[in-house]
Amino acid sequence: MSHGSHPLARHEGDSHHDVVPDHFENPGHPPHVLRWADVDPAAARRAERQVAGFFLLSIIGTLAFIVAYFWMDQDAVGTVPGIGAQNLYHLVLGVTMALSLLGIGLGVVHWSKTLMDDHEVTEERHVLASDAETRRGFGDTIAEGLESSQIMRRPLIKYTLGGALGLFALPLGIQLVGSMGPLPRNDLEETFWDKGMRLVTDPDGIPIKAADVSKGSVFHVLPEGINEAEHPLDEKAKASVLLMRLNPDDIQSDKQREWGYEGIVAYSKICTHVGCPVALYEQQTHHLLCPCHQSTFDVTQDCKVIFGPAKRPLPQLKISVDEEGYLTADQGFTEPVGPSYWEREL
Ligand code: FES
Repeated sequence: MSHGSHPLARHEGDSHHDVVPDHFENPGHPPHVLRWADVDPAAARRAERQVAGFFLLSIIGTLAFIVAYFWMDQDAVGTVPGIGAQNLYHLVLGVTMALSLLGIGLGVVHWSKTLMDDHEVTEERHVLASDAETRRGFGDTIAEGLESSQIMRRPLIKYTLGGALGLFALPLGIQLVGSMGPLPRNDLEETFWDKGMRLVTDPDGIPIKAADVSKGSVFHVLPEGINEAEHPLDEKAKASVLLMRLNPDDIQSDKQREWGYEGIVAYSKICTHVGCPVALYEQQTHHLLCPCHQSTFDVTQDCKVIFGPAKRPLPQLKISVDEEGYLTADQGFTEPVGPSYWEREL
């Protein structure tokens, strides 16, 4: 076959660098380089000990995970440098599980790189499908196996085996679902808020007077009495509230005006999409923005969703003031806070 007219073929006057050969020689494998462990028995023993050390690390991680899972206080809270207050139970489970997996991974990789045979092997490509005779032979083997096991002639065994294998995974599934904690309906319906509780700043815990809330400001608020030492973190997260003061004339909903105090309104801080904290308040537009997927809530319209994937307004907390002028909750939330879920309408 002639390649004279190929656009990439050599032409008179072409520079040397523009020439593309018709085909490339197979350069083969580069020369094999022996590793330290291939030539030095002491290095091989050292590598062996290192691999065993990684596996030992995994064993320690797994045992520590089991001990923590069954014996650690699930509500233990502690301060981790650089992160802040954390649920120690989850932290320890995560770290020990990571060690357990990491030890195996590192051990296997190190083993394969230092001790396992690393000679290059070349296998020519061939047709992947087996030939007709081999496939026929495979079918015959299966048929013979079925025949000799008598499974087709004994439906009782066939169906009970099917049931046993089908149900085999059920305990694993039950355990998996059972370990996922309470259903969201039970968990998100109740928050720490109750009638008469003062609104305090998060994290300082200072009660807030209505007179201190200026227009355009936003406060991150918790119920008085909640604290990290006595209450689990999720309790605090569920009770988080944003407090803002609007011009009362800007408020477009009667219920919202009634549930607030002289233009001060309080809304759950947990996004109704999948529960991120809604933390960005745009005081010119009165929009609250969730940084996770950009759901935007209009505070002048009872925090209804005007953009993004959230489907429900943020729940409002009804507030008033006590005789000393401090803002208080008139009642707890009247609807579950946080993400929507399948049972919410039930
Ligand atoms: S969690 Fe807020 S938009 Fe997704």
